[in-house]
Amino acid sequence: MYRPAARLADIAHFHVVELLTRARQLEAEGRDIIHMEVGEPDFPTPAPIVRAAVDAIQGGKTQYTPALGLPALREAIADFYQSRYGVTVPASRIAITNGASGALCLAFSCLADPGSEWLLADPGYPCNRHIMRTFEGRPRSILVGPESNYQPTPALVADAWNERTAGLLVASPANPTGTLLSHTEIAALAEVVRSRQGHFLVDEIYHGLTYEIDAPTACAVGDDIWVINSFSKHFQMTGWRLGWMVVPEPYVRDVEKMAQNLTLCPTTPSQHAALAAFAPETIDILEARRAEFKARRDFLAPALESLGFRITAQPQGAFYLYCDCSALSDDSSKLASDMLETIGIAATPGIDFGANEPEKHIRFAYTTSVDRLQVAVERLRVYFGR
Ligand SMILES: Cc1ncc(COP(=O)(O)O)c(C=O)c1O
Repeated sequence: MYRPAARLADIAHFHVVELLTRARQLEAEGRDIIHMEVGEPDFPTPAPIVRAAVDAIQGGKTQYTPALGLPALREAIADFYQSRYGVTVPASRIAITNGASGALCLAFSCLADPGSEWLLADPGYPCNRHIMRTFEGRPRSILVGPESNYQPTPALVADAWNERTAGLLVASPANPTGTLLSHTEIAALAEVVRSRQGHFLVDEIYHGLTYEIDAPTACAVGDDIWVINSFSKHFQMTGWRLGWMVVPEPYVRDVEKMAQNLTLCPTTPSQHAALAAFAPETIDILEARRAEFKARRDFLAPALESLGFRITAQPQGAFYLYCDCSALSDDSSKLASDMLETIGIAATPGIDFGANEPEKHIRFAYTTSVDRLQVAVERLRVYFGR
């Protein structure tokens, strides 16, 4: 008998996984595939972090930690807010989590009532709406485009808010567009949410991966905001499954309770490894890699535009270019699949990011070297006959 919970009908697989499966198949047949679909850094985890993990495991540090994480790591993150942003965040408000994914699950496990509505940007990170649904909340899309830098505005939020709305989730920099919210914009959104007694969650997972400007943290806007972050992207620890969340004080014990019940604790060796993430030698490695990401973006964005893709908002962070491909194709899913089959370029079609003109958009991740990007652009040039 197969009788899954009703919510599963509302939760989708990543479409890009099919593309990735096909890409792997082609590779197994000897084809050279350039991976621009992958949303994770291509760099290995910095050596000081790896060494700290090995030491921890060899030293027997393999048992449960407190549910909210190692006190020393919570302190290190609090220090990081002080040194990086000049913002005081008490370690007692920091929960270490199983990635930003774990943080989002904990937040919605504490906040979502059945039927409560949650506003979020479309296009946006696909798992958000599925996580909300998992906890019986209802995702409600705010369609965003270049006119608001692909971010919700206070007016859009006010318009979308109704009696069932419980809160707003934004990401800055955003996936798939890489666009940022300024301090003033975060403050204005917070005001709208506050005035409606809602919850405001800000996903800062791509902080540390901005180019030209630093991303302002929502922690500087108010201590009633849920701020989500991760060791996955900036610290290049995707597979270590470690992140954190700055929790509004009244909810810390709730998050602790849910963490105890859902996962017991974040992965212990990963937490010990992350203690080395803020060391100056690690930061030096990460800064060099950030410069490399910037060089990739600066090469790829104009190159794609010269081929007929349109980048309608300035991507200031993350490692994605979200392109309007309507001048080249009227179906981005077909385009993505055809590019893969004919020239071995894997990119993510818009359908993975929501229902806001997905067929017109495609996301290229610059998670591969400039040399490989050059090869990709050459193949695309031939493909489009430019
Ligand atoms: C915007 C955003 N939030 C959260 C996540 C989840 O990341 P992780 O669980 O690896 O920290 C991702 C991953 O791509 C993301 O793009």
